[in-house]
Amino acid sequence: MVPAYVPNPVAALCGGGTPIDFNRNFSDGKRILGDGKTYRGLVCGVAAGILCGCLQIWLVSTYQLDLPRHTLASVTLLALGALLGDMAKSFFKRRLGKVRGEAWPVADQFDLVIGAFVLTLIFDPAWILANITWQVLVVILILTPLLHRSVNIIGYRIKVKKEPW
Ligand code: CTP
Ligand code: MG
Repeated sequence: MVPAYVPNPVAALCGGGTPIDFNRNFSDGKRILGDGKTYRGLVCGVAAGILCGCLQIWLVSTYQLDLPRHTLASVTLLALGALLGDMAKSFFKRRLGKVRGEAWPVADQFDLVIGAFVLTLIFDPAWILANITWQVLVVILILTPLLHRSVNIIGYRIKVKKEPW
């Protein structure tokens, strides 16, 4: 899950500049995605996720570690899927009238997992079937909100994030 977990905090660190929706509004008059989704955040976040995934591939093969096997495809799909899930979440958040940064419990925590798994299921279903057993899924469902909360509190304390969620 490292390639899926890395993009969000890196996007928060590097994000800014041109918003992905180019400041445009949806038919309901509200922003399509909002200022919290930028091209810089997307590109840096996905690149960082892929880079960490490549490091994992190298570590596993060099030290013959008994860990799930990643490929360039699986790490790319997990990293890109994580931030596409985050963007999809923001799209629905705006439709519900929630402003940028407003908390949306459950969706804020699991958007990246859903996005990463949906994209990988579409383009590399064999990887999901081979690696995401129900035991692994249970661990992911418990670990994700804990990691999300801790990393966001750190991000808030070091003034990278405006909200501690
Ligand atoms: N970020 C970015 N580009 C992305 C994703 C995130 O630039 N594709 C940056 C933004 O600076 C954003 C921060 O990371 O403010 C935190 O991300 P997130 O909590 O997902 O965004 P919010 O600002 O809370 O916006 P939203 O309400 O749409 O979730
Ligand atoms: Mg947020």
